[in-house]
Amino acid sequence: MTAADAGSAKPSEVSSSSTPMITMTNVNKHFGALHVLQDIDIEVPSGQVVIVVGPSGSGKSTLCRTINRLEPIDSGEIRVDGKTLPAEGKALAALRADVGMVFQSFNLFAHKTILENVMLGPLKVRKQKKETVRENALRLLERVGIANQADKYPAQLSGGQQQRVAIARALAMSPKVMLFDEPTSALDPEMVQEVLDVMTSLAKEGMTMVVVTHEMGFARKAGDRVLFMADGRIVEDTDPTTFFTAPSSDRAKDFLGKILSH
Ligand SMILES: Nc1ncnc2c1ncn2[C@@H]1O[C@H](COP(=O)(O)OP(=O)(O)OP(=O)(O)O)[C@@H](O)[C@H]1O
Ligand SMILES: [Mg+2]
Repeated sequence: MTAADAGSAKPSEVSSSSTPMITMTNVNKHFGALHVLQDIDIEVPSGQVVIVVGPSGSGKSTLCRTINRLEPIDSGEIRVDGKTLPAEGKALAALRADVGMVFQSFNLFAHKTILENVMLGPLKVRKQKKETVRENALRLLERVGIANQADKYPAQLSGGQQQRVAIARALAMSPKVMLFDEPTSALDPEMVQEVLDVMTSLAKEGMTMVVVTHEMGFARKAGDRVLFMADGRIVEDTDPTTFFTAPSSDRAKDFLGKILSH
């Protein structure tokens, strides 16, 4: 944060190294009669890798989507790097750019090349020079191991390659936080590891990450913390080893029994 930003911010909004990267305070959300997020209270320090697990329908995707305002909340507050998420307008666009998101489906633009897909966001939102954006995009494609596919179209790439492009595209916005919602669950098994490897190196480099995944190897290797959700609530909040070896709630034991048995 610059001095100018700090000067205009309310004291409680001034960012510092001790400011959590993500804060959700008493967040509640309904879909009609369904209370999909119930009193969510979490603080994610900068650089932490949070794994979110839980049964289908427990609210994991909704939790992620509220963090960058793809879904509005009914009450409570969400802050990213100390700043409250604005409801709309330019401020929202800027803050949303701080939060990169990678979905199960890769959501690449089919009629644009890989390179164009990665360049699109920075050109539109960050308003950077085309040459700078291009160099940065190529560097990111190099980093995810597909620089040699830059001029191809998404359909010409494997699922694992497309998902790595989606990660590069999110990184192109220089986000402060990366959200991953089951990034490997649509992939053929042999392509899962190449995507997890990119995510692991991102975690090692200190990116703050929220990752919905049932990939336990990744969770234990790259995760700092596990949130177990059930019925819209965070039921357990612990370190990966404790969660996977000694969960405390019956819900988590039942859930782990199911995912470990198939
Ligand atoms: N746009 C929506 N309108 C109405 N209900 C919704 C909407 N999106 C999600 N829901 C409901 O909210 C609940 C939580 O959904 P969510 O997608 O967050 O669960 P999840 O934990 O990600 O599940 P999964 O493991 O299947 O991806 C589900 O009961 C779902 O049907
Ligand atoms: Mg989901």
